[in-house]
Amino acid sequence: MDNYLQLKDISLSYHTKEGEVLALKNIDFNVKKNEFVSIVGPSGCGKTTILSLISGLLKPSSGEVLLDGEKITKDTSIGYMFQRDNLFPWRTIYKNVTIGLEIKHQKKDKESLRHVDELLNKYGLHDFKNSYPSQLSGGMRQRAALIRTLCLKPKILLLDEPFSALDYQTKLSVCDDVHSIITKENQTAILVTHDISEAISVSDRIIVLSKRPATVKCIQKIEIDRALTPLKRRESPEFSKYFDLIYRELTSEKQ
Ligand SMILES: Nc1ncnc2c1ncn2[C@@H]1O[C@H](COP(=O)(O)OP(=O)(O)OP(=O)(O)O)[C@@H](O)[C@H]1O
Ligand SMILES: [Mg+2]
Repeated sequence: MDNYLQLKDISLSYHTKEGEVLALKNIDFNVKKNEFVSIVGPSGCGKTTILSLISGLLKPSSGEVLLDGEKITKDTSIGYMFQRDNLFPWRTIYKNVTIGLEIKHQKKDKESLRHVDELLNKYGLHDFKNSYPSQLSGGMRQRAALIRTLCLKPKILLLDEPFSALDYQTKLSVCDDVHSIITKENQTAILVTHDISEAISVSDRIIVLSKRPATVKCIQKIEIDRALTPLKRRESPEFSKYFDLIYRELTSEKQ
């Protein structure tokens, strides 16, 4: 489905004491089902604002956002992953992973619990069910955070710089992990990142934004074999060509 997520000519202003701040201007793009799209842009340009719009936390000043042909409401199931894993230190991994089900009163739903077990097994966390977050590595904690959101079967997964707090080596391996889980689970995902290489290594397309108010400067299709892991994609011969293209777009003055 080509128009799974549609942002149609979105503009958004924040109202502050100093007046109106235009954050987004005429943002228009689509995301296909099962596609992995990244958004890159300068600091403070409006990347997180776009994710807040897609999640329904913010309403556009003009334009509309449609997911699967419908307006987003508080009942639309949206998954998140942030820079910090936000696991509760006093709950075991199992209790952390099932917290969403608990909130939605689905804790006794056999099918949901079977799905949790399947995800924990498949992604190597089953033996850590009864461990606490502090007993796990940063990478495993991010995996647990991802499973927590996937067990709610979100229609789309929004990732806001989920790897930026990790050291470089860990970041590369967690990125491989997260990408492989998202692909295997056929999730549609949008990743916001400052890191051009990271974006190229995971994405089908990259949306480059201008500085605030964010406009779409260009949308770059990445044609590197999708079956390769992000680490392998970094080694592909086309990688540096894409890096140059996106770097040039990001740093060019055109709005
Ligand atoms: N609640 C708010 N009220 C007023 N202005 C806001 C609010 N949230 C964000 N802004 C402003 O809107 C602009 C875009 O913010 P946003 O957080 O979306 O940027 P970003 O691209 O995610 O930044 P970063 O790269 O630092 O994560 C910024 O100038 C910010 O100061
Ligand atoms: Mg942000």
